Order: sequence, then C-alpha cells, then structure tokens
Amino acid sequence: MSGVLLTDRYLSPMTEADLDEVAAIEKLAYEFPWSRGNFQDSLRNGYYGVCLRHVTGTLIGYCVLMPVVDEMHLLNLCVTPQAQGAGAGLALLREAVRLSRLQKLDGILLEVRPSNPRAVHLYERFGFATIGRRKNYYPARHRSREDALVMRLTFSKEGADAAE
Ligand SMILES: CC(C)(COP(=O)(O)OP(=O)(O)OC[C@H]1O[C@@H](n2cnc3c(N)ncnc32)[C@H](O)[C@@H]1OP(=O)(O)O)[C@@H](O)C(=O)NCCC(=O)NCCS
Repeated sequence: MSGVLLTDRYLSPMTEADLDEVAAIEKLAYEFPWSRGNFQDSLRNGYYGVCLRHVTGTLIGYCVLMPVVDEMHLLNLCVTPQAQGAGAGLALLREAVRLSRLQKLDGILLEVRPSNPRAVHLYERFGFATIGRRKNYYPARHRSREDALVMRLTFSKEGADAAE
C-alpha cells in the first residue's frame, strides 16, 4: 500500500509525519477525540494506519486498524467534516478490507456509538451486522457514559463482500 491512486485522492500508510494533521482533524470531527499520543502509540505498537489525501496533499481522512488473532479491529475511522458525504469513508473501509484480507483475516470488528447514525448507516450499508452491545463503553456528556454497538463484517470466502 504505497500511494494507491483513486482518481482525485490517494491512500498511503499513516506515519508519525502525518500525526499533526491527523490530530487536528480528530479534534474537529469528534466530541471525545483521540490525542496525538493515542495515534503515536498505535503506530509504535505496529497497528495499521491509513491516510486518504486529496491529490493536492490535503488530508481528507484516516483509519487505524489493529489485528487481533483472526480478525481486524477498526479502532478509528474519520473523515474531515468538510469532506464528509463524498465517499471518503467508503474508500477507507474498502482499504481496511483489502489490508485485512491480505493478512488472511476472517473479518473486521468495530464499536460505534448508537448516537452516531451516519457511521452506523455507513457500516450497515457496507455489510456490517450488529452482533452485540458493550455497556457504558464510551465517555459522554455530563460525566455520563454511552453504550457501544459491536458490529462485525465477516468476509465471504469468494472475496465478494458487500460494497467492495
Ligand atoms: C462516519 C464517517 C466516517 C462517514 O464518512 P463519509 O466520508 O462522510 O461517508 P461516505 O461519504 O463514504 O458515505 C457513506 C454513507 O454515509 C452517508 N452519509 C454521508 N454523509 C451523511 C450525512 N451528512 N448525513 C447522513 N448520512 C450521510 C452517505 O449517504 C452514504 O450512504 P448512502 O450512499 O447510502 O447515502 C464520517 O461522517 C466521520 O468521520 N464522522 C466523524 C467521526 C466518526 O463518527 N467516525 C466513526 C466512528 S465509529
């Protein structure tokens, strides 16, 4: 995965040189963002990071993936607010599937807030199924907590996954 060209955008592995831009988008897009150090730790632990940039070089979005035994865990997927709704999320998910298949993994697991319908819609449209709920998983406003939906995409043996 080095500089895969998609018309006006390209994918590349996330490196420490990307982290200032990644952390800036993270703060814009999430109420409870990861810190720059969270991304740095992920890369230093050997997790996969993927950046999606416009051909001009502007960072559009990114994802972070952690392989666990036989499946990939999608830890973070984010598109900068002004680029949302134009297929960048789908492009990053497709790359997550490609990388996971390359590692001969069986599927992708993720957690998502039920209060994030845009993300839930994206994952459902892509073929993820809700397989459970983790109680009080996320921080929420007023020092309260929010459950997480646990969703899984199971790869088909033939390689013809939904929305690929
Ligand atoms: C969730 C997120 C990654 C989706 O990325 P995106 O680039 O906007 O998504 P895409 O353009 O690829 O669109 C995928 C689907 O989401 C839908 N969608 C996109 N923008 C939307 C909006 N403003 N309102 C409702 N649905 C929307 C699209 O309609 C599309 O589905 P459709 O083709 O059936 O209509 C992005 O909104 C984001 O980064 N949000 C903030 C961070 C976050 O919540 N990350 C997920 C944490 S689990």
